[in-house]
Amino acid sequence: MQQPTPILVFDSGVGGLSVYQAIRRRLPQLQYHYLFDNAAHPYGELAAETLVHRVNRLITHYVAQHEIQVAVIACNTASTLVLPSLRQALPIPVIGVVPAIKPAAELAKKGIGLIATPATVNRPYTQDLIDRFAAHTPVHRIGSTALVTLAEKKLRGIAVDPAEIARILAPLKDRIDVAVLGCTHFPLLKDEIDQALAGVTLIDSGEAIARRVETLIGHPGAIGEANAAPYPITSSAPPWQADALNRQVRKLGFSAVRCLH
Ligand code: DGL
Repeated sequence: MQQPTPILVFDSGVGGLSVYQAIRRRLPQLQYHYLFDNAAHPYGELAAETLVHRVNRLITHYVAQHEIQVAVIACNTASTLVLPSLRQALPIPVIGVVPAIKPAAELAKKGIGLIATPATVNRPYTQDLIDRFAAHTPVHRIGSTALVTLAEKKLRGIAVDPAEIARILAPLKDRIDVAVLGCTHFPLLKDEIDQALAGVTLIDSGEAIARRVETLIGHPGAIGEANAAPYPITSSAPPWQADALNRQVRKLGFSAVRCLH
């Protein structure tokens, strides 16, 4: 059986694992690689030039060393900035993850909450999405690195305080009926966000990205033995709470985290 070449999923931290899970649910036959740039985490606080430079360098290097078929930039903060330069630099298709403003605008009757990183909520790319698709719906923005940190903790099995999440999201209360999870870390906190914003519809990009990957590569055949997990997962720095992280990523189909240098 022909072995499909792998999909690379990239983020600054564990957030991209929410996108990986959505893709793998749809396409369990594929091989996956996960790469995260924890040396520069959180991306939401990084200067634009630094981010462009890092992401381009890391991904072109990784793709050159492994036979990657498609790169998924499972990070809104990076995708809203680096896609043009990355697409120019790479010989393979690059799929970006950006805030799902369009589907949110189709559903919203009252208002949209855009919950993302401080960088993403202020990007010209994001403003353009809002102007094009949500011009007639009020969009209320929350840019929060604290939520990113909480998601990193939760994935490692550390309890998060629902009151802290409610406090961060309090400005959205009674103003919205749809919220966009515009950071790939936030689907990891879906239950807590759902509780804090009772009655609000939450939208993330995971399913749409999985469909996009499927369209791009065509539907592969049956699952082959050679494609069974564990998949490689690589970090750019020794990970925080490595033991807890390794336990969790194993459950998601990966081997232990390998650090680049
Ligand atoms: N997961 C990322 C995103 O989708 C970035 C989080 C961060 O590093 O600030 O935006």
